[in-house]
Amino acid sequence: MLGKILKQFASPSALARAGVLSMNRRNRDFIMKYNLRRYYPMVDDKLRTKTLAEQFGVPVAPLIGAIRCQYEVKQFENMIRNRSGGFVIKPGHGSGGRGILVIRRHSGNSFEKNDGTLLDRVQIHRVITDILSGLYSLGGQVDYALLEECIDFSDVFRNYSYQGIPDVRVIVFRGYPVMAMIRLATKQSDGRANLHQGAVGIGLSLRNGVPRMAVQFNQPVSRHPDTGVPLRDLRVPFWKEHLELAARCADMIQLGYFGADIVLDRKRGPLLLELNARPGLAIQIANHAGLAARLERIEQLDPASHPTPEERVAFAREQFA
Ligand SMILES: Nc1ncnc2c1ncn2[C@@H]1O[C@H](COP(=O)(O)OP(=O)(O)O)[C@@H](O)[C@H]1O
Ligand SMILES: [Mg+2]
Repeated sequence: MLGKILKQFASPSALARAGVLSMNRRNRDFIMKYNLRRYYPMVDDKLRTKTLAEQFGVPVAPLIGAIRCQYEVKQFENMIRNRSGGFVIKPGHGSGGRGILVIRRHSGNSFEKNDGTLLDRVQIHRVITDILSGLYSLGGQVDYALLEECIDFSDVFRNYSYQGIPDVRVIVFRGYPVMAMIRLATKQSDGRANLHQGAVGIGLSLRNGVPRMAVQFNQPVSRHPDTGVPLRDLRVPFWKEHLELAARCADMIQLGYFGADIVLDRKRGPLLLELNARPGLAIQIANHAGLAARLERIEQLDPASHPTPEERVAFAREQFA
């Protein structure tokens, strides 16, 4: 199917006619126009996003702590000593899943990664030191390491993800959700749900969260490459809540166009994982639909038409099935 789509979309003008938003147009007409640079630090820094979300009552993946300099690295043990569950160490300014370590269990000097590999204390210290040195941050500037509780992802996704938590990406424009997909970790993506690492992306109907089309490396797939389950059977519970959480994020940051990444925790429900001021365009392939017409539809609206996140979600579910 995708081969056909790509052939049909062979030239930039054909793509534009089909309503596919190009990188140039995304940057010029949406990111530059609606996202002022001075507001980027709010979303490019994961701790700032978390703090802001807490102020606005948006639930987030629970914070354990932050390590900001080399002499604090040893404090890592104190931070997790009395915690029985798993935890995640990530660069505060990271992106694309780089530098993220997910530890699902630990006991004494033994830390078990998602794939079963065991690490000791010294190896964990090295991971943190690499993060601090800026190995994974934009432009290699010094960074801090963020420790977060490992999300206990809902049972409904168990066979849909390989050793990692799936996340729902919602594109939000002027406070309205406009397109969504779920990303599933695979063996190739090493337990992370980032598409260019090899995760599977499934476009989801905004109306009810039902799958539209699934892709891996921009090629269509019908089953999870590792577990073999048919992807069209996947259902996202608390769909409306996912969309409302995404729409509510627009009230806490001054960005007109962004992507909200949401994970479903077994006990806590949908939680905000991170926000992205330059969300990728592959979501259009996973949805077999272009973003352009949807964004134009929202641009035509009077900004006061739907003041609450609930109203904006109801409108979007009606408009963008
Ligand atoms: N708290 C967590 N619990 C479990 N997995 C996580 C957690 N945080 C991140 N991950 C995994 O790592 C991936 C990338 O994390 P994210 O915070 O979105 O960073 P990035 O900006 O690098 O994409 C997520 O999609 C998820 O698969
Ligand atoms: Mg991410």
